[in-house]
Amino acid sequence: NLNSTKEMLIKAQEQGYAVPAFNIHNLETIQVVLQAASDLKSPVILAATPSTVKYADENYLLAIIEKANEINTIPLTFHLDHHENAEDIKRIITLGCKSVMIDASKYEFKENVKIVKDIVNFAHKYGASVEAELGKLGGIEDDLVVDEKKSFLTNPNEALEFVKLTGVDSLAVSIGTAHGLYKSEPKLDFERLDKIRALVDIPLVLHGASGVPYDSVQNAINKGICKVNIATELKMPFSSAIKEYFSKNPDASDPRQYLVPAKKAMYDVVVEKIKMCKSENKA
Ligand code: 13P
Ligand code: ZN
Ligand code: NA
Repeated sequence: NLNSTKEMLIKAQEQGYAVPAFNIHNLETIQVVLQAASDLKSPVILAATPSTVKYADENYLLAIIEKANEINTIPLTFHLDHHENAEDIKRIITLGCKSVMIDASKYEFKENVKIVKDIVNFAHKYGASVEAELGKLGGIEDDLVVDEKKSFLTNPNEALEFVKLTGVDSLAVSIGTAHGLYKSEPKLDFERLDKIRALVDIPLVLHGASGVPYDSVQNAINKGICKVNIATELKMPFSSAIKEYFSKNPDASDPRQYLVPAKKAMYDVVVEKIKMCKSENKA
């Protein structure tokens, strides 16, 4: 049986660190994240976007992660990341998933509230926790492409209102990060984060952490971020290592060989990101 992310994030909030949420895609990436988290004794969130669920199958993902939860001593959860389809979310909750993000950030405030509230009501009956987003990140995540001009930062007063109206468990805020990498170094709006934190008491989530300097992420954590999402910076070393392996071994065909350096390269980044989140030894 899986846990929600509620207690995990509240503990992080109280103790001033963030739980890293790593986007996984298959058995290998799940193994890498869990190995690194176990080695560093860090709580960890395994996040799956809609295209990952489609690619890997929700039943297989749940089976693998439920088994992992049974045999691992670190706190771990399976989290649906950036899901927009209410029916999909509800179905996967009934199958045993205890942590979901309903992303209705593309809608105006009232519609966002309405969509999120419906998921919160459903999820809480199953003991599942819900993350929502207010404001909108730019960049590319999955099939989701948001033009920089269409992105906007979270309004602190609206955030307070949003949390009250929806009863959501954690809030993803838009404070200057974007999904994917950056053309130039991102500048985070820490004043805005301070204002949001002063008004909103639930755990705050930072999306788009790939490409954000270590110090900026840690500053955001010091100012109240307690979940940090990382996707792109894991995919890159994994695929680069495979490319390198094949360039040196063009006749290779055994995944048990060519995936080994990929897993190692990804492992090193997961370790670095756990340290960035200050979640080492918090399991
Ligand atoms: P990055 O791809 O920038 O790491 O963003 C990850 C994310 O926000 C997943 O929800
Ligand atoms: Zn995201
Ligand atoms: Na990013």
